Amino acid sequence: MTTNRSVWQATATIPEYGAIAGDQHCDVLVVGGGVIGLTTALYLQQEGTDVVLLEAARIGARTSGNTTGKVTSQHGAIYANLVDRHGRHKAEQYASANQGAVDQIALLVDRLGIECELTRGPSFVYSASNLQREADVAWDLGLPAQLAEPDETGLPEQGTSAVRFDDQVMLHPLRYLAGLARAFVEAGGRIHEHSRVTELDASDGRVEALTAVGPRVSAAHVVVATLLPIGTVGGYFARTRPNQSHGIAVRLPVEAPATMTISADAPVRSTRPWPGGGPNGLIVVGAGHETGAEQDTDAAYRSLIDWVGSLWNTDAQPDYRWSAQDYSSPDLLPYVGRAPGSPILIATGMNKWGLTNGTVAAGILRDTILGRDNPWSELYDARRIGDARAVAELVKDNLKVGKEFATGHLSRILGRGLDHVEVGEGGLYDLDGKTVGAYCDHDGRLHTVVPVCTHLGCPLRWNQGDTTWDCNCHGSRFTPDGSVLDGPATTSLAKPDN
Ligand SMILES: Cc1cc2nc3c(=O)[nH]c(=O)nc-3n(C[C@H](O)[C@H](O)[C@H](O)COP(=O)(O)OP(=O)(O)OC[C@H]3O[C@@H](n4cnc5c(N)ncnc54)[C@H](O)[C@@H]3O)c2cc1C
Ligand code: FES
Repeated sequence: MTTNRSVWQATATIPEYGAIAGDQHCDVLVVGGGVIGLTTALYLQQEGTDVVLLEAARIGARTSGNTTGKVTSQHGAIYANLVDRHGRHKAEQYASANQGAVDQIALLVDRLGIECELTRGPSFVYSASNLQREADVAWDLGLPAQLAEPDETGLPEQGTSAVRFDDQVMLHPLRYLAGLARAFVEAGGRIHEHSRVTELDASDGRVEALTAVGPRVSAAHVVVATLLPIGTVGGYFARTRPNQSHGIAVRLPVEAPATMTISADAPVRSTRPWPGGGPNGLIVVGAGHETGAEQDTDAAYRSLIDWVGSLWNTDAQPDYRWSAQDYSSPDLLPYVGRAPGSPILIATGMNKWGLTNGTVAAGILRDTILGRDNPWSELYDARRIGDARAVAELVKDNLKVGKEFATGHLSRILGRGLDHVEVGEGGLYDLDGKTVGAYCDHDGRLHTVVPVCTHLGCPLRWNQGDTTWDCNCHGSRFTPDGSVLDGPATTSLAKPDN
């Protein structure tokens, strides 16, 4: 029986923190309790800064708690590409920042005594093409890289060429985040879960945040670490793309490879051992696509199961399956720092490598707030998106596009009535000539919504594999009853009139 939940969410105890109950003041407000928000909050609190962290759901509930748990500077076969696009100096900075983050995370785990199954070992990227140049470039940039024999990966089929990075790290990401949260609170920090920020007002020298539960927080600085900045902050929604990937945890008929592996060729398959699954336990992540763009998300899970089946000649079904999303920037470098023309600090565009990139980001955010130099702030500069005027234009154009897109899509909708919704099924249905989104849960309850995104009005697509409403415009996702799961959106979907 497969559980629709990540293996990490099913096997971690997360400390619970109450929702915000009254107005608060602090030096720094951090919005978002993923790896970036928690690391930034901890760094600042440890420096004597008074920090409040507001989390819409639970600590680690979204992308950071649903990753592959690889802490590595090997981000696929990217280094030759980075040199070609950005030159050797920037590529070397990226390599050094991320290799440094591997060691920094291991140090935090050790110093804070976090029990998160941390192990060190090699990580491989493999391809049907020759990776000699990738190996040479990575080595030249100072990374622990060398060309390897493909069979060193431990996979039965692994292309014809591979690059090995030595001494990389894997861990239980949610237990790691729980450890950061505990350390932050022990240092005097305040966390409030179930406290979604709906508005930020940065007009009078301080920043004021309004929460969905009512109280406000006033802070000298605010860090928006919400995967993608909420609302229209900085215009980043228009310069990034949301990509969803799927994961399974499965028991093989034989011992699983002890290595971390990732394919350089599409379709991407990323593997690592699943310690909780015993010696045969394997985690496979891949089948990526733009959020809200896939007609059949169940097929994404099937493709991972089929891949395992064909490599190990098994029909084993996964114990767990899950999905998560992340954003990529056009130049493949994260955006970190102050948004253009704004005192608000942001971090986004981690391109599915946010455990290390996000730890680098936390250092940049801390140093920016404390007025210190940081060696990586220029490389990740959030203001390279454009100046304040360019961002304002970007936001205006996208407001228009969202509305036009919605009108076009809704006029193309099917004509089945709500009495056609089968148990366990969802989609778009007709209600007295109007289009509604509906899902019938396994208890036979019908959940209906207006299937229009509350961010900028784009149409939503039903994701049957994960039973969510997904927006392809900028990646907002909603539960069947319309609550926000991921956003730039900050408000729930509307309910149909009748
Ligand atoms: C399938 C998958 C596997 C991955 N595997 C790896 C890996 O092995 N190694 C690696 O380095 N990277 C990996 N990544 C990338 C990495 O997980 C992300 O880059 C990273 O987790 C992003 O962290 P974050 O803190 O920005 O986001 P999140 O973890 O999503 O945290 C943002 C938090 O903000 C909260 N929030 C949102 N809106 C509001 C609001 N309005 N008010 C208050 N709170 C709000 C959310 O609830 C959430 O908890 C993977 C990504 C995916 C999709
Ligand atoms: S996320 Fe922007 S319109 Fe849906």
